[in-house]
Amino acid sequence: MAKILRSAAALCALALVTACSSGSQGPAEMPVPPAEVPVDDTADPTTADGIFTAAQADRGEALFRSTCSECHDSADWTETGFKGRWEDQSVYQLWYYVNERMPYDDPWSLSRQQTTDVLTYIFRLNGLPAGNTELATDDDSIDDYWIAWSPSLP
Ligand code: HEC
Repeated sequence: MAKILRSAAALCALALVTACSSGSQGPAEMPVPPAEVPVDDTADPTTADGIFTAAQADRGEALFRSTCSECHDSADWTETGFKGRWEDQSVYQLWYYVNERMPYDDPWSLSRQQTTDVLTYIFRLNGLPAGNTELATDDDSIDDYWIAWSPSLP
């Protein structure tokens, strides 16, 4: 508000004897600009925010080759159907699905690390960027992120 008052005063100084000198038109009647929409920087980060490392996705890829590829083609995980099912879900939901049910013929056999790594491989397959920090394997860390398949808008 102080800024608006200052610029009003400056305007009055320029317009000197006309509008401002009348007394009835004080700075309070200057039009107030609409408040700026605050930037929501509390939004939860997503899989598009560089939440895994390249080395982690490499480990996931190795696991895919040894353990998943007998039943899955990597193209399974870039399909629209797959992506649509998981988009906007928590990473934890996909993590839990894989951890609990895959490999289909040997469920619950993956370690937390393996499950986490293979997810990052799936993210990378979809062109999501790697970053400097590995995706951690504890529930809280995994649950911190939402699944987005395209890079976030600036
Ligand atoms: C023995 C075969 C087999 C193996 C090995 C296997 N899967 Fe699967 N997977 C399946 C089947 C069958 C389904 C569909 C299950 C259903 O619809 O209930 C599936 C579904 C999935 C889905 C869900 C796909 C969707 O469209 O929502 C994911 C993710 C997945 N598997 C990941 C993996 C990963 C990662 C591995 C390796 C660690 C793996 N699977 C190993 C057979 C397998």
